[in-house]
Amino acid sequence: AADRAPVIQESSFIEKMKKTDRNVVVFYGSQTGTAEEFSNRLAKDARRYGMKGMAADPEEYDMSDLSRLTEIDNSIAIFCMATYGEGDPTDNAQDFYDWLQEGNTGLEGINYTVFALGNKTYEHFNAMGIYVDKRLEELGAKRIFDLGIGDDDGNLEEDFVSWREQFWPAVCEHFGVEATGEESRSFLHSVSSLLYPFLTLSLTLYQGCDAHQTLRGTACHYETGSAQYELEVHTDINMNKVYTGEVGRLKSFEAQKPPFDTKNPFLAPVTVNRKLNKGGSRHLMHLELDITGSKIRYEAGDHVAVYPTNDAAIVNQTGEVLGVDLDTVFSLNNLDKESNKKHPFPCPTTYRTALTHYLDITSPPRTNVLYELAQYASDPCEQENLRKMASSSAEGKSQYQTWVLESRRSILAILQDMPSLRPPIDHLCELMPRLQARYYSIASSSKYQTNTNRINKGVATNWLKNQLVTDNGHKSTVPMYIRKSQFRLPFKSSNPVIMIGPGTGIAPFMGFIQEQAWLKEQAIERERREREREGGREGERERERERERERERERETGGRDIGETVLYFGCRHRNEDFLYQEELEQFEKAGVLTQLNVAFSRDQEQKVYVQHLLKKNKEHLWRLIDGENAHIYVCGDARNMARDVQNVFCEIAEELGGMTHDQAVEYIKKLMTKGRYSQDVWN
Ligand code: 2AM
Repeated sequence: AADRAPVIQESSFIEKMKKTDRNVVVFYGSQTGTAEEFSNRLAKDARRYGMKGMAADPEEYDMSDLSRLTEIDNSIAIFCMATYGEGDPTDNAQDFYDWLQEGNTGLEGINYTVFALGNKTYEHFNAMGIYVDKRLEELGAKRIFDLGIGDDDGNLEEDFVSWREQFWPAVCEHFGVEATGEESRSFLHSVSSLLYPFLTLSLTLYQGCDAHQTLRGTACHYETGSAQYELEVHTDINMNKVYTGEVGRLKSFEAQKPPFDTKNPFLAPVTVNRKLNKGGSRHLMHLELDITGSKIRYEAGDHVAVYPTNDAAIVNQTGEVLGVDLDTVFSLNNLDKESNKKHPFPCPTTYRTALTHYLDITSPPRTNVLYELAQYASDPCEQENLRKMASSSAEGKSQYQTWVLESRRSILAILQDMPSLRPPIDHLCELMPRLQARYYSIASSSKYQTNTNRINKGVATNWLKNQLVTDNGHKSTVPMYIRKSQFRLPFKSSNPVIMIGPGTGIAPFMGFIQEQAWLKEQAIERERREREREGGREGERERERERERERERERETGGRDIGETVLYFGCRHRNEDFLYQEELEQFEKAGVLTQLNVAFSRDQEQKVYVQHLLKKNKEHLWRLIDGENAHIYVCGDARNMARDVQNVFCEIAEELGGMTHDQAVEYIKKLMTKGRYSQDVWN
């Protein structure tokens, strides 16, 4: 029997806004939770200006309702849009993106603004935010404040805060409203009692300085004390109702049901966990996950998303330092009863589970977390330090840079180094970001069978190393799902394939090469059957000889139907980190890899990188690219390698295609838009 009423969620955000008297909606395209967090903060801000806001996941609402926003007076739609991978929308914004691209809904009279989140080391920096900003205008909406550009390679938090500082006054001016002041006074009141005796000092420091209020002569605005969730401790609860690490449905780990996705990961047994490199200080891993019975499908080039687990020792120490019983069962309940998001993570749960499975307690905390925590430091010096690091002063910024970021201080390290800082654990749980799934390259093709007839499923990683030691005879499992990617072999298998993947960038190419091997086998098989049909009554022996000759020929020509397959791999030393050396050499011998180029950067005096080899082979490459419609794939380091490689392709186009520099740049750009130059790169 159902002991719970079904939750009916309003799919019309307009109806919801009307019912709850809101005029500001903040949509987020979020992959790792940052855009979502920014949206929550903006939604909360609205109150200070006599408005009422709500953060909204575009996936949960009918976005075509946007055109109805005019039904609400003084309304505005804010978009916090993160860009993922190669200029792609985040998963939760995919449908919205498609709707924007395909749709023609007029958005006249709709007020909007966009804040974009991205990383400038990527080719398509903030493509998603830029697109949404442009497209909404094309559809007739009114941009009431300029697009904000956030760069995670610099300081995303700071970009956001300074954009927002100017955004709200602009909104107020647009609507002709003033900050109510009421809200601010009560804030200042609660803050001043907390801050004493450092009130004045801190007031001038905090970055969330509100220009509008400053103009009116009041001091800066604080966000402390404005917890969004309230704590409920369960003393007598059926433990079957308590979440133990599930991402979505309660007990989903015990009774696993497909389809598996981000909210419902599959617990995949780890069947192989081996070190890939032979030497050097790093530890690169090759893992094989068993997805039998899961109905999970994937293609070469896809990613595996894995939910990590925090180390038990770190969790225990955090509990000890805060003096709490980690097995307390609790819930954090949203104070805003109308919000779709009832809890920040699955509740009820224990602090141990929250710190182990739901919260990122190992990354260095962001500045807004330090700011909020400061109120709990009883030592004025520690409190001042925390506020300073959260401020926009040059000294504060540089202290945050060295003391937190460069020293990679986690929240536990900060608690250990600041003995007077003892926040209540429930507020800490509210402040910490959600633990995110990590993405790994799949180093196999689902089509390719190994000679044991077992399908190869590999994920490469450095991180999983410690999580996966098989303890007490049980097979370790990891919660995982597949994230589809755009990184795909050419549709036509006769197109040549040029792969550049130094270091761990090799991983997806192992899948590509396996797939090419499979395609080639198929082609040979087809050929054989044709021959057999033609062969008629010839003796079995003669046919066998014929088949052998055919295979030989195929090996020599590289397969009639399969285009050339060339790989550029780079590593430090041949004897240390030539990843998948054996497999690659075998593929070369079998003619699947028509060319294997390896750059060993540290085996000689002068550095040799993949792009140096590309330059050397420029004639061959240019023939494949310009003459035979080759597809180029680059995987690995985004910061330097991907850029250097792209420059070399430009140089080749310039030199051998007789182009000017600008034309060559344009040529490569065009390859990209046509899907003939794909990158899967990371920092
Ligand atoms: P290095 O560490 O000796 O400089 C995989 O990490 C390989 O990529 C290593 O051999 C590394 O060389 C090399 N590498 C470093 N920077 C690179 C760049 N900008 N372009 C191409 N390869 C690079």
